[in-house]
Amino acid sequence: MPTIVFVSPKGGVGKTTAALILSLELARGKAVTVIDADPNHPIAAWGRGADAPANLSIVADVDEDNILDRIEEAAARTPFVVVDLEGTAAKIVLLAVSQADLVVVPMQGSQLDAEQATRAIRVLRQHEKMTGRAVPFGVLLTRTSPIIRTRTMGHIQQGLAEAGVPVFATQLNEREAFRALFSFRQPLEALDGKEVPNLDKAIANAEQFTAEVIARLREARTPIVEAAR
Ligand SMILES: Nc1ncnc2c1ncn2[C@@H]1O[C@H](COP(=O)(O)OP(=O)(O)OP(=O)(O)O)[C@@H](O)[C@H]1O
Ligand SMILES: [Mg+2]
Repeated sequence: MPTIVFVSPKGGVGKTTAALILSLELARGKAVTVIDADPNHPIAAWGRGADAPANLSIVADVDEDNILDRIEEAAARTPFVVVDLEGTAAKIVLLAVSQADLVVVPMQGSQLDAEQATRAIRVLRQHEKMTGRAVPFGVLLTRTSPIIRTRTMGHIQQGLAEAGVPVFATQLNEREAFRALFSFRQPLEALDGKEVPNLDKAIANAEQFTAEVIARLREARTPIVEAAR
């Protein structure tokens, strides 16, 4: 069953936020296990006292020694597994990547972030060399303005395209609702639109990202695509 792993050696780029948004959207239809492999356990903390859907399980007793088992157990239990890692390039990242059907590399629109995303992509290429298996991945531009496209962002997107790096068509916009998800500890749909500005837009954004993840998982499974690699 598909395992989606969020990877970036840089902290604070929106991995946990994107991982939770995806997990909650997926959990509206299917059971999901989130493996919270960040030692700070932000998703497990979210889950405590959160109005979490019954379809969502959170596993937090995860470390380098047991992550392969934890992912395997979760994949046997639920149709989707989402792995959130801390911002590091440690061995645990390679281990999680080895189990991934799709890797999402969140990145904010600055040159420094682009360099860090390149580091994440190098880890993926390293994994491919080690195992002979290419893991499908995509860069997810996060915290972008829904209104303005900055010159830096344009430059970065061009650079990624020229380097042949796959980028998600969906960007996760900077939205108060995505912060409110953590402060109110509720799925987006349960938040109050009167308290959270542009909640409908955030929900549409979350749905679009989830739909694109599912489409990419389907593409990655198509044998023709595999053969063309
Ligand atoms: N799309 C977004 N809109 C608004 N705020 C966001 C968005 N994505 C992330 N943030 C905020 O940015 C901060 C960092 O996000 P997050 O914790 O998801 O990053 P991370 O990559 O998981 O960080 P770490 O490497 O420390 O685990 C948080 O305060 C979060 O609320
Ligand atoms: Mg995080």
